Amino acid sequence: MASVARKFHDETAHSPYSVRTSGHTLEWDIKPFPFKVYTDVPAIPLPRDADVVAVPTLEALARPAPPAARLTLPALTALLYYSAGVTKKKSYPGGGEVLFRAAASTGALYQTEVYVIAGEVDGLEAGLYHFCPGDFTLRRLRAGDVRGALAEAAAEPALARRAATVVLTAIYWRNTWKYQARGYRHLFWDSGTMLANTLAVGDALGLAPRVVTGFVDAEVNHLLGVDASREAALELVPIGPEGAAAPAVGALAPIAHEVMPLSSDEVDYPALREIHAASALASAADVVAWRRATPPPRREPRGPLVALPDPPRDSLPLGEAIQRRGSTRRFSHAPISAAQLSAALWAGTRPIPADVPDGLVDLYLIVNAVEGVTPGAYVYWPGAGLELIRAGDFRRESAYLTLEQPLGGDAAAVLYFLAPLDDLLAASGDRGYRLANLQAGVAGGRAYLAAYATGFGASGLTFYDADVVRFFAPHAAGRDAIFVTALGRASGARDDVLLSKTISAPARRT
Ligand SMILES: Cc1cc2nc3c(=O)[nH]c(=O)nc-3n(C[C@H](O)[C@H](O)[C@H](O)COP(=O)(O)O)c2cc1C
Repeated sequence: MASVARKFHDETAHSPYSVRTSGHTLEWDIKPFPFKVYTDVPAIPLPRDADVVAVPTLEALARPAPPAARLTLPALTALLYYSAGVTKKKSYPGGGEVLFRAAASTGALYQTEVYVIAGEVDGLEAGLYHFCPGDFTLRRLRAGDVRGALAEAAAEPALARRAATVVLTAIYWRNTWKYQARGYRHLFWDSGTMLANTLAVGDALGLAPRVVTGFVDAEVNHLLGVDASREAALELVPIGPEGAAAPAVGALAPIAHEVMPLSSDEVDYPALREIHAASALASAADVVAWRRATPPPRREPRGPLVALPDPPRDSLPLGEAIQRRGSTRRFSHAPISAAQLSAALWAGTRPIPADVPDGLVDLYLIVNAVEGVTPGAYVYWPGAGLELIRAGDFRRESAYLTLEQPLGGDAAAVLYFLAPLDDLLAASGDRGYRLANLQAGVAGGRAYLAAYATGFGASGLTFYDADVVRFFAPHAAGRDAIFVTALGRASGARDDVLLSKTISAPARRT
């Protein structure tokens, strides 16, 4: 019998037919508010002079800084700001305004919410906090040290010893308002682009971040006090040094804080709740089994490889690259250098420190305009080079594959993340679906960072599922398209405004 994830994936695939017959229209009257605001607990302002992350971006991606002896509030603030903070503002005629964030997010809808379970943070009492990027504050939802409960829910004793854990959740309706059930994929793409920032900044600050993907879903949702039919925990990221283990706290009382409604009405997408429930873990034993699953074997190149040069030696400071990052809205046809392409490919395939193996997504690409690289379709082999599948000018095809969006055709190169989905689901069960989308999202987020740090632009893109696999056939047989990122040089200036003073980071635009 087909898994729930396979059925969900196929039923939410884009094709020219599905796009033209969808009939979905955006109901602006009920567009969800982009910030979660708890209204019954006081806001704790975060320091505006938090750490500026000055480590060169490619260095932060290459190796972690020496471990920090303490987790301080300024370091935690920097991590939150560069993961989820408001970095730019765009005003529209008629009064509309979008507040853009540190990490890219489908449709600028920002359904990823951030919580902190703090134990040993200098300058912050122990407790469960929600981070609101809108007013740049924390609000405490539980008092006291609840790391022991988190460690149990994740079957991971180290979480009771680490200074704090950041928890990413998603509020479904914020994304399904536009993208309907397919939005489930976006929860992982977008928490992935955010994690790319969280991991890089955490490593730059010596906080040893690590992604925990296995946990008893209901227990973590209960700890956070979220309404699990609308919002759910996706990933946990322990940060900071290990100290004495937090005491066991037993069963936690329920919490139900008041929250500002997102909109006057909501639409439920049962298919999304169904795949999330099917991919949930019910017990600590399930979590252990999830971590022990053997992933599908990695593949080997089938033909000669074209070597790429090393990435550029210099890259912007990480904080500045994140502050400047913004999805390119129009690419010129100007080429990027082979070293710049190399930086994005290298960054996108860096290991992900996590409780489960990485490397589940393969990186296919179309090269349209990269100096010294023959235009064509390729597969990238990390550390080795490019395997040519087919030479040719594929600008028309790369625009078509990305849902007929010009960005895909105008880009210098387009990265297609493909995963052996059936093999992965057979090995790991339906939760493997979350993981494939997450790993592709992290890879795309890291490609964004490398692009902005080395002087070019990027944009995440959606795609025609089956056509992508067909384009890379027969090489891509047995794989599914998971996520796409376009790279290139921007045409014209952006029309949004960099907000420089949220924390004291530089805000220059070249
Ligand atoms: C997973 C993902 C998919 C995206 N897909 C598209 C797309 O299909 N077309 C597009 O124009 N932009 C796409 N984007 C870019 C978003 O619209 C953009 O991230 C969002 O508007 C926030 O703006 P910023 O990235 O400039 O901060 C995507 C971004 C992500 C992270």
